[in-house]
Amino acid sequence: MPAKNKTVWYCSSCGNESPKWMGRCPACGEWNTMVESPVSGRKPSSPSASGGGKPEALNEIDCSSEDRITLGNPEVDRILGGGLVRGSLVLVGGEPGIGKSTLSLQIPLNCAGLKTLYVSGEESARQVKMRAGRLGGDLSGCYIFCETSIDKVIDEANRMLPDLMIVDSVQTMSCEGVESTAGSVSQIKETASRLLRFAKESSVPVILIGHITKDGYIAGPKILEHIVDVVLQFEGENRGSYRILRSIKNRFGSTSELAVFEMTGNGLRAVSNPSEMLIPQHGQNLSGTAVCAMLDGTRPFLFEVQALVSSAVYGTAQRSATGFDSRRLNMLLAVLEKRAGFHLGAKDVFLNMAGGLKVNDPACDLAVTVAVLSSNFDFAIPSDFCFAGEVGLSGEIRPVGQTDRRILEASRLGFSKIFVSAFSSVGQTPQGIQLVKVGDIPELVRKLFK
Ligand code: TYD
Ligand code: MG
Repeated sequence: MPAKNKTVWYCSSCGNESPKWMGRCPACGEWNTMVESPVSGRKPSSPSASGGGKPEALNEIDCSSEDRITLGNPEVDRILGGGLVRGSLVLVGGEPGIGKSTLSLQIPLNCAGLKTLYVSGEESARQVKMRAGRLGGDLSGCYIFCETSIDKVIDEANRMLPDLMIVDSVQTMSCEGVESTAGSVSQIKETASRLLRFAKESSVPVILIGHITKDGYIAGPKILEHIVDVVLQFEGENRGSYRILRSIKNRFGSTSELAVFEMTGNGLRAVSNPSEMLIPQHGQNLSGTAVCAMLDGTRPFLFEVQALVSSAVYGTAQRSATGFDSRRLNMLLAVLEKRAGFHLGAKDVFLNMAGGLKVNDPACDLAVTVAVLSSNFDFAIPSDFCFAGEVGLSGEIRPVGQTDRRILEASRLGFSKIFVSAFSSVGQTPQGIQLVKVGDIPELVRKLFK
């Protein structure tokens, strides 16, 4: 009798497996994310952290010299937590055209003596060579292998034992024994599992490139996040020239570390002072903007929040937020309505974070609130004011972590005033910047709009 289930369904958001289609994934609750995939001849292998062996006593394990390779790119090294750990699998995700291949190829080119196997399933060796020529650097240690069978790739890598392997991209690779086409969920899962096993067994670090769509799934890397050790994700608009690379998972370092790059004619160049690019250079005070002193990972930086509040043209007001949680925006608007008497119910509200940045630091609440009020009243906030505070449901302004470091960064960038919670405990304020403590929204409005 033929097997009954010829296909299984995977949730493209969390990787949950199910024998039948479902409108909503029971594991993560996302709607319409189940994708069909043929059952492979054997079960996808599950990755193991180390290649077999027996249990070891914790106090006898030697990890004194965690083996890290420094890549010729200080910003990438920093967000990895101080270089690439040997035997780790790093996913570099982002939309097509954002610069994943460019960044990955720049690593061996800028790192003389690093023997690298660059596997390309997308471009021919000549195309890679042309790109490398444009990027410049040392071409000698880098080997290009155009292949889409992951089994052949791993065989070759085992023979060559490079210092680093780059696989571009996971969507183009296919595994023997898995019957679906390259790019399907089961192929992606299996490719990543085999690469993880290779990395752990050989101690060769692997950088795996994965395309990701705007909403974060469909293409698969969401599933990969559970398998790999480190996820570096590109965000930002690929229309502009700035690219933001963020670590969203790191088994060997802290997460949400962020680096900013600029795409130039010869590759990605690190922007050492991201605040300069994310705060306005127009030199005039415009209404609807406010600068937030944010902390991303371990580094403080400042960026501009823009809001546009206008009377709703159609019956229901529109709310739209780019780079900021729209539920959080709705909550802030409700607080303004209920606790401070601003009637925004019939207004359209649009919110935008500078540079296509995605923020989730609660300290952004205050700048968002100020930008909304500023646009609503058409009252410009002086461009040398900045804000760092969380807004609570009763309209109180709560302190945020590491306020001192935010103040220091704001002062370094020449801001004259920083608004923080009245409940923050702050050490000594640096010279040249004035600290304005506010306890709730009405007090903020009094101090700001007078
Ligand atoms: P790429 O790294 O190919 O993107 P991905 O691998 O994420 O799909 O980068 C593609 C874009 O970058 C492409 O539009 C061309 C541009 N680019 C430059 O502007 N300068 C350069 O030096 C390079 C190599 C690419
Ligand atoms: Mg590419």
